[in-house]
Amino acid sequence: MAENGEAAPLVTLAHVDKYFGDVHVLKDINLTVSRGEVLVVIGPSGGGKSTLCRTINRLETIDAGSIVFDGRPLPAEGRELARLRSEVGMVFQSFNLFAHKTILENVALGPVKVRKVPRAQAEERALQLLERVGIAAQADKYPAQLSGGQQQRTAIARALAMDPKMILFDEPTSALDPEMVQEVLDVMVELAREGMTMVVVTHEMGFARRAANRVVFMADGQIVEESAPEEFFTNPGTERAKDFLSKILTH
Ligand SMILES: Nc1ncnc2c1ncn2[C@@H]1O[C@H](COP(=O)(O)OP(=O)(O)OP(=O)(O)O)[C@@H](O)[C@H]1O
Ligand SMILES: [Mg+2]
Repeated sequence: MAENGEAAPLVTLAHVDKYFGDVHVLKDINLTVSRGEVLVVIGPSGGGKSTLCRTINRLETIDAGSIVFDGRPLPAEGRELARLRSEVGMVFQSFNLFAHKTILENVALGPVKVRKVPRAQAEERALQLLERVGIAAQADKYPAQLSGGQQQRTAIARALAMDPKMILFDEPTSALDPEMVQEVLDVMVELAREGMTMVVVTHEMGFARRAANRVVFMADGQIVEESAPEEFFTNPGTERAKDFLSKILTH
């Protein structure tokens, strides 16, 4: 395994620091994500979870340290950066779908524009992906005609359409009505089972328990704790994590 690189982590962050002005938002972050691993990132607001995700596909630059993706330092610009962005899918809290394109067009767009896949072929694949996330029947509708859960499943299909090496999820269910959370988490659990490498910022403990290999607890720009999900939720190792969990568990 080792000689063909399979055992090497997909992502390695080493001594990463990031400032917004005077605010030190990522402090000496050291983290690896293995191929096929599902990492849940959890922690209080403002702790740096979104920023951490965004550095991995270089939506944010870093001020110190290094990030290696698939054996190479993150590219700064040009074609290499475009390739990185297509290899690292991103699913946000707000779905960011194109309002004037159908669900099918939204999913087919990336492969057509970035990968130069013929439209008919891209749409055929898009339909298969919509099938996979359970919304093929909605293919010809516009985003506003779909529920939040359906829109988020479209966003996941759109990420999958690029055949990413990993997908970053930043609070994918926190804008959804409660009854739609599960349908999105079910799709994510399925992806995890199929071996997709995923970094998921979420407070959904059920998801973490069902699908995560590791939980990373972040606060004040630091990784405070890194543990197996069951261990983290039942026996957190730090006061900071205990305090945080007591707050999210009471509502
Ligand atoms: N573009 C920006 N410009 C300036 N400061 C920023 C920017 N983005 C984030 N910050 C600051 O960086 C810190 C970390 O923010 P970040 O959004 O990464 O936290 P988070 O853990 O994702 O929080 P939340 O749970 O509320 O989403 C916060 O202090 C935030 O105010
Ligand atoms: Mg955030």
